[in-house]
Amino acid sequence: MNDLLAAASLARRRAWAPYSGFPVGAALRASSGRIVAGCNVENAAYPLGQCAEATALGALVAAGERRVVEALIVAAGPPPCTPCGGCRQRLAEFADASLPVHVAAPDGTILLSTSLGELLPVAFRLSSGPEPVRVLAIDLVRARAPSFVPVFGLVLGSGLGAIAERLEPLADLDTRELPGFPVPTVEGHRGRLRLGALAGVPVACLQGRPHLYEGHPPNALAEPLRLLRDLGCAAVILVSAVGSLGPEIGPRSLALVVDHLNFHGTNPLIGPNDERIGPRFPDLVDLYDPALRAVLRRAAHRLGIELAQGVLAGWSGPCFETPAEIRMLRLLGADLVGMSMVPEAIAARHCGLRVLGLGVVTNFAAGLAPTPPNHAETIANAAAATDRLAALLESALPELARCL
Ligand code: HPA
Repeated sequence: MNDLLAAASLARRRAWAPYSGFPVGAALRASSGRIVAGCNVENAAYPLGQCAEATALGALVAAGERRVVEALIVAAGPPPCTPCGGCRQRLAEFADASLPVHVAAPDGTILLSTSLGELLPVAFRLSSGPEPVRVLAIDLVRARAPSFVPVFGLVLGSGLGAIAERLEPLADLDTRELPGFPVPTVEGHRGRLRLGALAGVPVACLQGRPHLYEGHPPNALAEPLRLLRDLGCAAVILVSAVGSLGPEIGPRSLALVVDHLNFHGTNPLIGPNDERIGPRFPDLVDLYDPALRAVLRRAAHRLGIELAQGVLAGWSGPCFETPAEIRMLRLLGADLVGMSMVPEAIAARHCGLRVLGLGVVTNFAAGLAPTPPNHAETIANAAAATDRLAALLESALPELARCL
């Protein structure tokens, strides 16, 4: 935070505050790491004066940045000089509620560390069109690939990122650049959006995905799917590492997900519903699209690739399940268990995306193999299945695209 403090303090010394005698400096850290600063600029006509946060935001936008990840204000206190109501709203245009906001005294003492959400629990939003942060994200993606419209979203999980290397790439974006996007933190999850073609079909591929167990709020997991939909995708292919609950589906098998049991104890749609995105009470019948599944089965048959199928139990993790939990899941009808696909499939259905779910079996679930499941095995077995998975997707994609 010292870099922000230094930038805000310098800006404060340059403030133009002859009427109030109350100079203020503000520094903002953009998602790229760049720091911009501003100071208050008063005017003899009082309403024309500008707060430090507002001038810093002007500098941020002029520098080509679109997202603020940390803010610090320096002014004489106490009490701490928090951003005014107008500047809280200004910040909300380029940050989400979790934005850390610090207020320091001129001697560098931190008087307050809070978040934008605490300062402004309800930000003003337009009543039509996508959320402002998603508009920013879409703008960013479109700026990188102006006439590209993906047909499929492809979401790749643990150890499966190598599939993205098979795309003819048009543009790569670090998901940390994308406003509103939850950033994956797990090893094996890279956090890249690759735009390109796979088997000649335009695809937006998320290499790495966020999970509930990382602490993301459930509704944040819907954001990547909504972005894919707003970019133009008609369907999403969700690929996840999964554990197998049955002896007939061994490690390194590929398995079509035919339905799910949601054991996450939560749902990405909990919270206020935005009717512009989807209905309050979406149904989940045939969530894993039967027509798309049939195409994949045909492609597997053509290639001589064995394709299992089963019901997936969504489990939050990060612990693998206990053997007793696995016995329970089996009794209740699950064939596979995984930590990622279920919330994504629900969010995809809600926003109108068709869904194909593909599990890459990395292990027998807890209690079904001599050794306990572990993450290294997940990554290694997922990677070992990559070539078969890529061949299957490449063979199926043109026909899948014709189904949409
Ligand atoms: N359990 C839950 N998630 C998983 C597993 C498992 O055994 N393997 C890969 N993802």
